[in-house]
Amino acid sequence: MKAAQLDDIKKFKIVEIEKPKDKNKVIIDILKTGICGSDIHNWDSGSPKGLIMGHEFSGKVVNPASRVDLKVGDRVTALPISPCGHCEACETGNPQYCKETWNHAVGLSLDNPGGLTSQIAVRPDMVIKLPDNISDEEGAMIEPTAVGLHAIHLADIKVGDNVLVIGGGIIGLMSAMFAKLEGAQSVAISETNESRGKKSVKLNVADKWYNAKDPNFLQTVLTDVPNGFDIVIDCSGNTKAVESSLLTVKQGGTIILVGVSSKPIEFASVIAVMKELTLKGAIAYTKEEFKNCINLISNKKIDVSKFIDDIIPLKDTQKAYERLTSGNDSAVKIIVDPNK
Ligand SMILES: NC(=O)c1ccc[n+]([C@@H]2O[C@H](COP(=O)([O-])OP(=O)(O)OC[C@H]3O[C@@H](n4cnc5c(N)ncnc54)[C@H](O)[C@@H]3O)[C@@H](O)[C@H]2O)c1
Ligand SMILES: [Zn+2]
Ligand SMILES: [Zn+2]
Repeated sequence: MKAAQLDDIKKFKIVEIEKPKDKNKVIIDILKTGICGSDIHNWDSGSPKGLIMGHEFSGKVVNPASRVDLKVGDRVTALPISPCGHCEACETGNPQYCKETWNHAVGLSLDNPGGLTSQIAVRPDMVIKLPDNISDEEGAMIEPTAVGLHAIHLADIKVGDNVLVIGGGIIGLMSAMFAKLEGAQSVAISETNESRGKKSVKLNVADKWYNAKDPNFLQTVLTDVPNGFDIVIDCSGNTKAVESSLLTVKQGGTIILVGVSSKPIEFASVIAVMKELTLKGAIAYTKEEFKNCINLISNKKIDVSKFIDDIIPLKDTQKAYERLTSGNDSAVKIIVDPNK
């Protein structure tokens, strides 16, 4: 079967790979796979070479393995993670803290190819059946939805709060959407990509957007919200943006870091001291949050299909990554359909 494999810096190669054979895993025919901002970090660095990405997917069961409740043809999604299941983190319902969670994650590790191919093998305990009223593409949106939900749970928004979300990629849009549901009185998004910034308002997840490229960005924000935001959520992973979160958050406010960066950030600790800031990282989701997102979509409490810009064949994966990183295209979420 064909797969889009990471071959070099910003380069995919379409290769021929063997179908998965592991009888202990649920074998799934991929229906749809989302491209994630985290995949873009791998693409940018070309590492690890040989990776087959795609940790946001929906598919059809080919072999249910030990999952007697599933049958051939059932539509499913899965948590891509690989928690050990018996450490303190796992036993308290926090697999995101488990040391094993990313070691063999589907689409994020070399030993477990993700959905940028036709068929994958997934741990039975991570597979979740999709309700009939969730489309294949919505099924591939559950994982990033759960990332947004987890960030908002950690943000602990109070009714009437002012919220700033930095970065209007899919994680930023999901976080903004949930911030409104939590009762924020206003949600602003800052973006360096004008098309994405405008789109966040058009999609009705943000009340306002700020151009982070504008040299007067900080003055403009602080003129609008002189005391600063109760909550600032970074969904950009950009170091400059993280620095600006310290200046735009209110005294006693909270900063949530969802965006990923391995570059050091520089800030005068006196800012955090004087403002009595709370700074929290947010990684992934719990299984409960993942299931909650399925219910929210199924019950029509949230609409995630509005965030999907395009559904493309596997051979166009390279082009889709180029489009998503162009810095001026409004596309936020592109879904790959290996059957197209
Ligand atoms: N913590 C987690 O569990 C988790 C899960 C998924 C993704 N992520 C990370 O979250 C980040 C966002 O993911 P995504 O899929 O939305 O990615 P994305 O690349 O689509 O979105 C990032 C957005 O940030 C914008 N941006 C860049 N610099 C900025 C700045 N200085 N100010 C304002 N906006 C700026 C970009 O234009 C882009 O639209 C990535 O770093 C990703 O790796 C974290
Ligand atoms: Zn993702
Ligand atoms: Zn564990």
